[in-house]
Amino acid sequence: MRPQPLAACLLAVLLPLGAAAQAATAPAVPAAPAAPAPPPAAATPAPLTGSFDNGRVLAYTCQGCHGITGYKNAYPSYKVPKIGGQTQQYLSQALSEYRQGKRKHPTMQAQSMSFSEQEIADLAVYLSTAK
Ligand code: HEC
Repeated sequence: MRPQPLAACLLAVLLPLGAAAQAATAPAVPAAPAAPAPPPAAATPAPLTGSFDNGRVLAYTCQGCHGITGYKNAYPSYKVPKIGGQTQQYLSQALSEYRQGKRKHPTMQAQSMSFSEQEIADLAVYLSTAK
């Protein structure tokens, strides 16, 4: 009966001490790796590697207008450019320009603003292979 409460008591004392010790050593760690790595990655102009599979998921909403399958528009009265099979660079540039407002078209600006740069790269990979 005796030893157990004592052990619990010791634990109760030692655990916070351990936490305090960790907290004391913690600040020294993050300071070191922060310095050297990032600059080269930021300097290179966006060679993001797109994900084909994610692009295919994201491109689902595009088909209603761009009619990737067979390049036929869902809305015949609606003039929509062909995007399937264009080069990755062309597609990602067009989407980025809509996103930044350099190309103005309400529909495509709304579409592209919902994507990150990574998602635009994903879309470009998928669409460039779509027929
Ligand atoms: C509601 C209809 C609609 C939807 C949905 C839509 N688009 Fe568009 N898209 C358009 C129209 C209309 C244009 C032509 C805009 C213009 O004249 O600048 C266009 C233009 C584009 C262009 C430029 C093509 C070129 O040759 O200039 C790209 C790239 C593009 N869309 C990609 C996409 C992607 C990717 C999606 C899905 C995430 C998508 N669009 C969804 C209607 C749509």
